[in-house]
Amino acid sequence: MPIPIIMDCDPGIDDAFSLAMAIASDELDILGITTSYGNVGLEHTTNNTLRVLDWLGDKTPVYKGIDRALLGPVVDASEYHGATGMEAPEIGPPTSVAQSQNAVMFMIETLMATRQKITLVASGPLTNIAMALRLEPRIAQHIERIVFMGGSTDYGNDSPAAEFNMLCDPYAGQIVLDADIPKIMFGLNVTHQVIATAEEVQRLRDLGNDCGRVFADMAVYFETVYKETYGFGGSALHDPCTIAWLLAPELFETRDMRVDVETTEGLSFGRTVHDIWNIAKKPVHTSVALKADADGFFELLRSLLIKLR
Ligand code: BDR
Ligand code: CA
Repeated sequence: MPIPIIMDCDPGIDDAFSLAMAIASDELDILGITTSYGNVGLEHTTNNTLRVLDWLGDKTPVYKGIDRALLGPVVDASEYHGATGMEAPEIGPPTSVAQSQNAVMFMIETLMATRQKITLVASGPLTNIAMALRLEPRIAQHIERIVFMGGSTDYGNDSPAAEFNMLCDPYAGQIVLDADIPKIMFGLNVTHQVIATAEEVQRLRDLGNDCGRVFADMAVYFETVYKETYGFGGSALHDPCTIAWLLAPELFETRDMRVDVETTEGLSFGRTVHDIWNIAKKPVHTSVALKADADGFFELLRSLLIKLR
């Protein structure tokens, strides 16, 4: 039985990798894709989601979400992903359109109607999911788990302390982390182990199909900041770690711990705080990925991209 999932994303180059992997897999049943502001504005992230789906010939319905954080200024990551969030000229403009229902209402209706628990996969700011939990707290009982990319057990990328998705909306992050729902977190501490090096990019090209070439180009587009700012050997494929874990959990080592977000403005605003010894004696519902098998990840990625166009 495929795992029913809803993907909440802000494409975004690495979000696009996630979408392609999930679409290619027979083990996942994507009930809907909800979009968030984040890497760029909501109009662009929704447009990019539709572009990827149309290009891959996938008909999953897309729902537009909230266009800003619950509180605070709008930030973006266009320095990584380009002005439109996904500079991939081969993937043309979309031919389909988003559904008229809002993402938050779609999540609530789908979750309240389901008989089988649904997994939420989040790869952008957590605003849509936080809002859904606030509007209809009973959805928690229908969520199998929330698999999200965000936070970090060590340093940040959008401030010295905070990771981008969490920093976009720390309050939403805290609402989600507080919820009594099993969660698995893919923070920078583990996604920075999954680097698209020149060798890995070449292996994608060698697949010989459109996807291999286009996703190789996207990884290269994404790598400038990683090389210049962090001295990495290529771009970090953050978001697809979530899908990789759903398909092959053995690729990651995890540890259960209490996670909260710093919501006091200051140097550490948006930083995730990891109580590995449970010193605060608060409920623990998050499993944090600590180690990734990067070779295994890229093998999985190739095995999925080869199935697409
Ligand atoms: C996260 O921020 C975005 O730029 C990426 O898509 C990823 O979700 C990494 O911090
Ligand atoms: Ca993202």
